[in-house]
Amino acid sequence: MSVMIPEMEDYFRGFIPPRDALLLELEEEAARESIPIVGPVVGEFLYILARATGAKKILELGTASGYSAIYLARALPDGGKVITLELNPDMASRARANFLKAGLASRVKVREGQALESMAAMTETFDLIFLDIDKESYAPALPHCRRLLKLGGLLLVDNVGFAGADAFNREIFAAKSWRAVHLLSFLPQHSPEKDALTLAVRVE
Ligand SMILES: C[S@@+](CC[C@H](N)C(=O)[O-])C[C@H]1O[C@@H](n2cnc3c(N)ncnc32)[C@H](O)[C@@H]1O
Repeated sequence: MSVMIPEMEDYFRGFIPPRDALLLELEEEAARESIPIVGPVVGEFLYILARATGAKKILELGTASGYSAIYLARALPDGGKVITLELNPDMASRARANFLKAGLASRVKVREGQALESMAAMTETFDLIFLDIDKESYAPALPHCRRLLKLGGLLLVDNVGFAGADAFNREIFAAKSWRAVHLLSFLPQHSPEKDALTLAVRVE
């Protein structure tokens, strides 16, 4: 009979992907200042999805210190770009400094302001959108995501285990324009470690 690995959470903590000095510094800063970054497992997941889909134009909602955007930008092919939206001016300027440190300043642009307003003013199309802002804004962001994501594009959504994401979870699951799956996950060093992610593809 097949047997599960015992103490699975401890076991999988042994597989946290390695990071460079800058990402480790951002993780320490996030722990010190309670900045809710995605952490190394979801960071790697973002990198893999962006790389595997060959995404050239990526939109991120919720920059914070720029940690997740660094993973996304590092997955881009030459000529690719990330646009990341952030409400807090202090976070936006810290993120810009971190993109410079990472040598990614030409690939990542931060737009300050309320993400829903920034999206409403945008007309360009993206290959991948990563949603990571206040959870109550997820459902209102969905029509903008549909308009700005190419047909067949990938939407990845963090923190859908939060109660504020309930409306979003139900809406995308029922919507004809999306094929979506909610993944309840154990995510070492994510905030929080037990949470769910949504992966969705725009199908119409
Ligand atoms: C969870 S953190 C983002 C973490 C980042 N994606 C990472 O993993 O490195 C959410 C960020 O979104 C910003 N934010 C929250 N609601 C927003 C909104 N409605 N529009 C724009 N930014 C928002 C917050 O100021 C915060 O910096």
